[in-house]
Amino acid sequence: MTEGTLAGKVAIVTGSSSGIGEATARSLAAVGALVVVNSRQSTEAGEALAAELPGAVYLQADVADPAGVEALVAGTLEAHGRLDILVNNAGTTQLIAHHDLEAATVEVWRRIFEVNVFGTWQLTVACTPHLQASGDGVIVNVSSLAGHRPTGSSIPYAASKAALSHMTLLLANVLGPAVRVNAVAPGLVDTPWTEDWDTLKAGVRAMAPLQRTATPEDVAHVILGLVGARYVTGEVVLVDGGLHLR
Ligand SMILES: NC(=O)c1ccc[n+]([C@@H]2O[C@H](COP(=O)([O-])OP(=O)(O)OC[C@H]3O[C@@H](n4cnc5c(N)ncnc54)[C@H](OP(=O)(O)O)[C@@H]3O)[C@@H](O)[C@H]2O)c1
Repeated sequence: MTEGTLAGKVAIVTGSSSGIGEATARSLAAVGALVVVNSRQSTEAGEALAAELPGAVYLQADVADPAGVEALVAGTLEAHGRLDILVNNAGTTQLIAHHDLEAATVEVWRRIFEVNVFGTWQLTVACTPHLQASGDGVIVNVSSLAGHRPTGSSIPYAASKAALSHMTLLLANVLGPAVRVNAVAPGLVDTPWTEDWDTLKAGVRAMAPLQRTATPEDVAHVILGLVGARYVTGEVVLVDGGLHLR
């Protein structure tokens, strides 16, 4: 995408105060989109990023909270009067070894699904009429390799991302032609989320054909590609340096 390609388009990027969301917000703004930066509690970082990006605003909201979702959509329309792009990136996890079934309590499942699945669903439903009105609406969900292979930070997290990936296909099936729906499924990405995961990172470098972990920009690059891919819907693109092959 070149400078100005998304001029006048409005994009919500959930969880964009750091990591993949921040890189995506920066990339969208670089090609002209007016970005709504969002986070749940990192307000300072979110406000600082919005101040850097031309035309961007910051809106604090927890995507798992119905009132937060309502405020995020209302705030976007108030600021920009339209919505064209939704990047459902906000997510959460808890590190639990897969064999430790007792530790993956129903409370853990609920907490993770509240954000990764129910929150994403609520925001998507609230945004859909506005994306349909755009005439060229697009949704990109940030899933995970863990949703496609028996891996990831915990079983509830992996299952939540499997749900998100399948939700992507189901939504694409009913929202065309007005709205395209795709997802990226990253492997291991260098973000604050994985700051302490040195052993896992070494494993990825040793195993993946591309011999490195991802940068947030690697993932943002594919998200932007999907935003611009006008004849692609219902796809989940693995962004894992080929790790799934091994
Ligand atoms: N890093 C990886 O290796 C990796 C791999 C595969 C998939 N992913 C996925 O990529 C996405 C982004 O992860 P990341 O690695 O970039 O993490 P990150 O740097 O920790 O960023 C997470 C962002 O999500 C926000 N957030 C969390 N819960 C939220 C909520 N309920 N409502 C609104 N915002 C919320 C955080 O804001 P606050 O700080 O305010 O909570 C932060 O802005 C997640 O969906 C994750 O599952 C990451």
